Parts: sequence; structure tokens; C-alpha cells
Amino acid sequence: MNQPSPTASAGAPPCAGLRIGDLAPDFEARSTIGPVRLSAYRGRWLVLFSPPADFTPVCTTEFVALANEAAAFEARDCALMALSVDSLFSHFAWLRMIRDRFGVEVRFPIVEDPTLVIGRAFGMVAPQDSDSATVRTTFFIDPKGVIRAMTCYPANLGRSIPEMLRIVDGLQAIDAKGGLAPANWQPGEAMLSPPTHSLDEVFGSKDAVSWFLRDSGAQG
Ligand code: BEZ
Repeated sequence: MNQPSPTASAGAPPCAGLRIGDLAPDFEARSTIGPVRLSAYRGRWLVLFSPPADFTPVCTTEFVALANEAAAFEARDCALMALSVDSLFSHFAWLRMIRDRFGVEVRFPIVEDPTLVIGRAFGMVAPQDSDSATVRTTFFIDPKGVIRAMTCYPANLGRSIPEMLRIVDGLQAIDAKGGLAPANWQPGEAMLSPPTHSLDEVFGSKDAVSWFLRDSGAQG
């Protein structure tokens, strides 16, 4: 595990430049379900994502799609948490509009981050930016609080919820089976073994490929 990064509390340097393997910076903030603390999610998987702003078209479609798939994340023991620079009351108004217009109640927390302190601690906002409406970042955080995957999309491209679920599935299968998930891997498909580190095994393998590209025998 990499060194713990600073928390989002007062005094933390902005834009910690988080990487895979870092401990997610802890924070406590108001949200649409009451106060939340990131470290309270230890023991579960967590998808923390930033919509650029409330009442924007692509973000609205993402929230509707995520709320419709909330049970699929729950079935993976994976919580959802959104983080937006807009105020708590803006979040409430947006969720009310989504409920009235799309018939979907968004019940996962949306954290308010009006000072950008949390977004900066996660590198969702560039240190000098006064506006966060250019980022659509997602952090996949494991039950120990470690960042295991990150994605970053531009504001004008919405995330794929099936791909978010596939990332959670892949990380969980890697932890459970110890294998590697190949391109386009889907749950239930074969995983790969790490390559050998032994030159004798390289020379002894039946062909030029099978010492490094081989099924692990595990089904994810
Ligand atoms: C959107 O979610 O639609 C959006 C957000 C920020 C800038 C542009 C579009």
C-alpha cells in the first residue's frame, strides 16, 4: 500500500495527486442522507464519484442510471457516494426534480463540497481551479479504504454503469481468486495467471507464449 494521503480536513494540501494503491483521504461532510464520513465505509466496497454539477444533462442521466442499478451495487456489497461542489439544498432540489421527472429516488448520499476541499484532496479539481465543472472522476475503494481503480471522463461523456459494475466485479474476483482479469473479462469467465519469474520455466514451457499468457483455472 502506498503512503496514506492527507485527509480533506483543514490544512490538507490541495490536489494530493492520488494513485492506485493510496489510502483514500478521509473526510466528514454534509450529504443528502445526513453527515457522512468516508472511513465509516471501511469493510465495504465504495464507489465515490464526482458529477461536475447539479442540474446538468449528462449528470442527470448518470444519476438516473445509477439509482436504477443501486440494487446491483448493493448485491456486490458496494456503496455509492457522489461528491459535488454544489450546496446541499441544490442537491435536494435536483433529487426532487429527478424523482418527479424520472420516477427514481436517488438514495445514495450526495456530499456537498462548496469549498472544493474534498475534491482537491482527491485530485478531482486542479489546485488553481475555481470551478470543478470539467471533471467526472470515479474512485473504486476497497474495504480497507485503498483506492483500487480510478476513471476520469470529460464533462461531455457520461460514464458506463455496466463498466462501473464490471470494475467492481473484476477487483472482487482478483481479490477472491488471485488471478488476472483479461481484456473484456466478465464475471464467470476464465482469469489469467501471473507470468512466471523463472527462466527455467520460460525455457521449459511447451511454446513461446504459455509461460506468460495462461489461464489460471479460476473462473471469476
Ligand atoms: C453535464 O453533466 O451534462 C455537464 C456537466 C458539466 C459541463 C457540461 C455538461
